[in-house]
Amino acid sequence: MDYQPKPHILYTREEIAATVKRLAAEIRKDYHGKHPILIGILKGSFMFMADLIRLLDLPLEVDFIRLSSYGRGVESSGTVRVVQGLGSPVKGKDVLVIEDIVDTGLTTSFLLDYLRKKKPASLKLCTLTDKPSRRRVPVTIDYLGFTVPDRFLVGYGLDLAQRFRNLPDICVLEDKE
Ligand code: IMP
Repeated sequence: MDYQPKPHILYTREEIAATVKRLAAEIRKDYHGKHPILIGILKGSFMFMADLIRLLDLPLEVDFIRLSSYGRGVESSGTVRVVQGLGSPVKGKDVLVIEDIVDTGLTTSFLLDYLRKKKPASLKLCTLTDKPSRRRVPVTIDYLGFTVPDRFLVGYGLDLAQRFRNLPDICVLEDKE
């Protein structure tokens, strides 16, 4: 029989919306009077970014960067590359990185080092989910949505081999049809 994992809801769309609202309130307060640039890591962060910025009444910029991902499996190769770079300079700007999940930390820590070299005025990280049990390199998270268990998550932008990104809830995959 084909592998047909079944998504099982871990966080409902209502819980996600409440969490995004809480994060937006924290960010709005900290960035009051500033003109931040929010940098989303593609592809997983696009849905979170879209919901978050609509709650941010700030004169902000949005950009995206695409980094090499896990490929088609669920394990990180450990090597991170920039696949599609930024469209705007970040030197002297207040940069807020928007991530969907920090797992081993390799992707985020690579990006934070990459951006730090470009001399932003400030550099912070907002992630919707954090899986600390799998961390391989330390990452400081400034704004955190959910601390999640060591399960592979899909939905609300998160994928398994490009599937399931469109699920409105964050789900775990049950290994059965
Ligand atoms: P890290 O480099 O191991 O921290 O992984 C970061 C990237 O791996 C994320 O941006 C996701 O694209 C992917 N990833 C890690 N864990 C999951 C998961 O549970 N579901 C979907 N993607 C994941």
